[in-house]
Amino acid sequence: MPHRLAASLSRRALLGSGLRTGLGVGGATLAASALWPRGLAASVSAAAPGDVVAVELVAKQRMQRILPEPAAPSPLVTYAERFPGPVIRLRKGQRLRATLVNGLDEHTSIHWHGIRLPNAEDGVPFLTQPPTKPGERHVYEFTPPDSGSFFFHPHCNTVELLGRGLAGALIVEEEGGPRFDADLVCMVKDWQLNPDGTFGTFTNDRGASRAGTFGTVSTVNGLIEPVIDVPANGDIRARLYNVDSTRVIDLRVEGAEAGGGAWIIAVDGNPLPPRPLDGWPMGPAMRLDVVFRAPKDPGKTLRLTNVYAAQPKPLAQFRAVGTALPNKRFAPRPLPAADLPVPDVKNATVVPMAFSATAVAQLFDDALLATLPFADSLCLSNKTFWAINQKSWPEGGHERLPPPITTLERGRSYVFELANLTPHLHPIHIHGYTFSVLSSDLRKVTPHHADTVLLEPKERLRVAIKADNPGDWMFHCHIIEHQDTGMMGYIRVA
Ligand code: C2O
Ligand code: CU
Repeated sequence: MPHRLAASLSRRALLGSGLRTGLGVGGATLAASALWPRGLAASVSAAAPGDVVAVELVAKQRMQRILPEPAAPSPLVTYAERFPGPVIRLRKGQRLRATLVNGLDEHTSIHWHGIRLPNAEDGVPFLTQPPTKPGERHVYEFTPPDSGSFFFHPHCNTVELLGRGLAGALIVEEEGGPRFDADLVCMVKDWQLNPDGTFGTFTNDRGASRAGTFGTVSTVNGLIEPVIDVPANGDIRARLYNVDSTRVIDLRVEGAEAGGGAWIIAVDGNPLPPRPLDGWPMGPAMRLDVVFRAPKDPGKTLRLTNVYAAQPKPLAQFRAVGTALPNKRFAPRPLPAADLPVPDVKNATVVPMAFSATAVAQLFDDALLATLPFADSLCLSNKTFWAINQKSWPEGGHERLPPPITTLERGRSYVFELANLTPHLHPIHIHGYTFSVLSSDLRKVTPHHADTVLLEPKERLRVAIKADNPGDWMFHCHIIEHQDTGMMGYIRVA
């Protein structure tokens, strides 16, 4: 039985959540807002640039039902009362002051994925800040320079914490541009659940040394095949997030007919000329903003489907409600262009970045695994299956920092040649920067901007940055088990 999703309910759930918005300096405004269609929930208040939006994020275990009864609610770890939450909405130019309260029994931090922020706010324990210990608080403050759909998550023990739901959305609204009748956040995530609602093991050597350990239950916003109400005949903006630790997805909005279906208007929050949503695989941490026209007839539905696997998987439905809005013919319009630093590709220095498996990983073939009953009980933090430029991150955490992969000169431009020497997919992510994605030797690449790029097996992909943001920036695969078993490093810009 699909869950019903009433906008008013969700709104209430959010208001009662651990997210507190408050007044900051300069007469700040409540900007954390509803997850659900803006037309059906609270509107976002306008605010002058320079306003500070203050939020408190209490990371702790909270029980939440994912599986239907008779299963028990599951012990999630979240920043707000419910997964996914909170959704922090800023207007471009607003400053975020986020206080992390660590209600866990391990140290943690918050990484603001995709934001080009000052290095000290990047939230990587030991590298950019001291870890926030249990019971401690840490205040992050920055003004996101770009609009878009971003998110945040911890950067230590991520395989378990993200596995249990520790992630929230950070949305920076653009100025001007097309109007939408609804603005949805759809966080796609699998859960590693046993039939009774308890969590299973988040990782094992077999998964970590291959494509990763897959969850057992697929959800959107923590709900199994939810029905999400949208205004009839409305123009719907859906911010599709892959917040899974492992799974690559390729989404479709099936049944959308007007204007040729659903269109991509942004990748990782970065606007691009509208193009049909018909084959843009998303690795973990990747986002797509899409727009589509809701059905005219109330009660009619569209289906959000993952077609990446051989067997397409229904994830959610969008159901038209209310009297049809008087919208004319549907045509997607581009978002206002981003103002990103432009790398000087012609004069850029080329930096090869090779992603490979270690000898250990190659040893772990099926036959060998079958003969090693102890393989899964080996301490994972001592295990390295993956490497960047033949170097493996020394352990799962960040206590022992290796030297940087490379040091870039501030102000210069660089082209990274990302070479995947493995038979697996790797979503490669850089902190504090946005890549200009240039070309691939395997496929035709639509030039675009992204903070995470999906490297296909054996692919060579060229991406560029202008090294204008100084500091030490993590650079890693976002399949969390790969990250934790060696496919991680950092880049120094000095
Ligand atoms: Cu979302 Cu270092 O990652
Ligand atoms: Cu990987």
